[in-house]
Amino acid sequence: MKHLLKMLDLSQDEILDILNLADQLKYELKHGIPHPHLKGKSLGMIFQKASTRTRVSFETGMYQLGGYPLFLSANDLQIGRGEPVQDTARVLSRYIDGIMIRTFDQKEVESLAEYGDVPIINGLTDFSHPCQVLADLMTIREFKGSFDGLKMCYIGDGNNMANSLIVGGLKVGMSVSAATPAGYRPANEVMEFASGYDCFEITDDPKKAAEKADVILTDVWASMGQESEAEERRKAFAGYQINDEIMALANPEALVMHCLPAHREEEITSKVFEEHAKEIFEEAENRLHAQKAVMVKLMA
Ligand code: CP
Ligand code: NVA
Repeated sequence: MKHLLKMLDLSQDEILDILNLADQLKYELKHGIPHPHLKGKSLGMIFQKASTRTRVSFETGMYQLGGYPLFLSANDLQIGRGEPVQDTARVLSRYIDGIMIRTFDQKEVESLAEYGDVPIINGLTDFSHPCQVLADLMTIREFKGSFDGLKMCYIGDGNNMANSLIVGGLKVGMSVSAATPAGYRPANEVMEFASGYDCFEITDDPKKAAEKADVILTDVWASMGQESEAEERRKAFAGYQINDEIMALANPEALVMHCLPAHREEEITSKVFEEHAKEIFEEAENRLHAQKAVMVKLMA
């Protein structure tokens, strides 16, 4: 594994290796055992969109690994004034040991990987959010013990989270159901991948998707960059909400997860959110451990 660009690129073994290392790093951190695997290395973090979790967990994670994180806001880089990503990649490769990028177009991330010669980590694009989904899988395994026999259900927009969860869930051996309005299905590439699995179901009926689910996930109705569509999306997604009615159809011990930030009373009710705050905030914490594992695998 040279880069982390999207879940589709990872094999089941690579995913499990990352999760195992993440568990170990979490244990070491909690027990005060130092793990300076990236001593003397630096990570550039390019942000073209806002972030709380991704920025802080990568920055702190790099520090805990003995390395140096550089926050690079696209507004301050020449990229913001039109310098091509291909040139930025070749320049940054001369100074630093890895690049994390959060941007719009997946092609930009793929292009960095093609032109640069340091590992590239996708910190979210419109197409995918692999770091989040690795943390999500880590959290599911932590709460449930294993992925065996589990059903994952995603309700909402067929966006970057849906694209990555469907692929990640199927790759680790869960059954996956997704409920999205017909006009907001996951990306074609993902639908094609998933169509190879009998244990995948896509529907526009959230209730059907939630039946006997062990984990239910959702995400915002309007992602970063879609602010102007918010009103139209509010109408399209009415009914695609995790609430008591949906939870009554899931298995009694079902987990509820959300990548955050959450819009209460839109994709999830406040009540369900608070009842499942335990796993939702463990999920947020696990971004740190999962990404440290990714950085060690790619950069050590
Ligand atoms: N879930 C997530 O990626 O959060 P941020 O946008 O705060 O980084
Ligand atoms: N789908 C959301 C995820 C945020 C972490 C977005 O892209 O804005």
